[in-house]
Amino acid sequence: MPKADDVRTMFDRIAGRYDLMNRVMTLGIDKRWRAAAIRAAKVDPSTRALDVCCGTGDISFLLAEAGAEHVTGADFSENMLVEARKRQKSHRDPAAAKRIDFVQGDAMALPFEDDSFDVVTVSFGVRNVEVLATAFEEFARVARPGARIVCLEITRPKSKAANAFYDVWFDRVVPVLGGIVSRDKAAYTYLPESTKTFPRPPQLAEILRDAGIGEVTWRRFGGGIVALHRGVLPVPTKPAGAPADDVVAAGT
Ligand SMILES: C[S@@+](CC[C@H](N)C(=O)[O-])C[C@H]1O[C@@H](n2cnc3c(N)ncnc32)[C@H](O)[C@@H]1O
Repeated sequence: MPKADDVRTMFDRIAGRYDLMNRVMTLGIDKRWRAAAIRAAKVDPSTRALDVCCGTGDISFLLAEAGAEHVTGADFSENMLVEARKRQKSHRDPAAAKRIDFVQGDAMALPFEDDSFDVVTVSFGVRNVEVLATAFEEFARVARPGARIVCLEITRPKSKAANAFYDVWFDRVVPVLGGIVSRDKAAYTYLPESTKTFPRPPQLAEILRDAGIGEVTWRRFGGGIVALHRGVLPVPTKPAGAPADDVVAAGT
């Protein structure tokens, strides 16, 4: 299990070169995966979205550009948030960028009221979290009934050939690239390591269900190295015979 303080310190360290390294490490394909996550979020002009583990804000910006009324990007690394706010100032769509607030917050104890959001996204974040179940329970708590939960994360591919490529790319190439681009080989040795113990898609789907998230489905991308999970917060059903909300009981 990653230790929260170590993870935060590591992201604080690599924040300045995080975006560049991301593009290099994924050869830019991550843009397609992120676009799929935004489609799954089904944003409309009344959507209040929360992007947990927002980092430098890739998904937060896309949610705002897709037309969300308001986006909150939350992360516990102050330096990642500094980079996100820099991007916000020079963003290509200033009107969309203005609808985002970047705030410091821990995925395992989110600083938001219950039922606050119509969409909760997390992209390449949960594999760093100390207790996954607690994080998803938090996402379910701050999401309103009927809200969509979207999770994009690296996973191990199924085929032997893809696994062999995955091992070479993440175990050998990424740490070297990390050393060159980000000047932090240790961080980019940890990142592939963190994917190894992370639950496979069916197990992750169970964790979402156990956190009270319904209609959980998932699909793989990128030759199987990325999984997109989605779910919906159930809307409580009224017991048979219960009065409708707009019916005021006599005498009250
Ligand atoms: C790999 S980056 C992903 C950033 C962004 N979501 C993206 O798609 O590029 C992981 C982010 O998760 C944040 N993070 C990790 N654990 C966290 C936690 N417990 N609470 C809040 N943020 C966390 C890190 O600070 C980092 O910014």
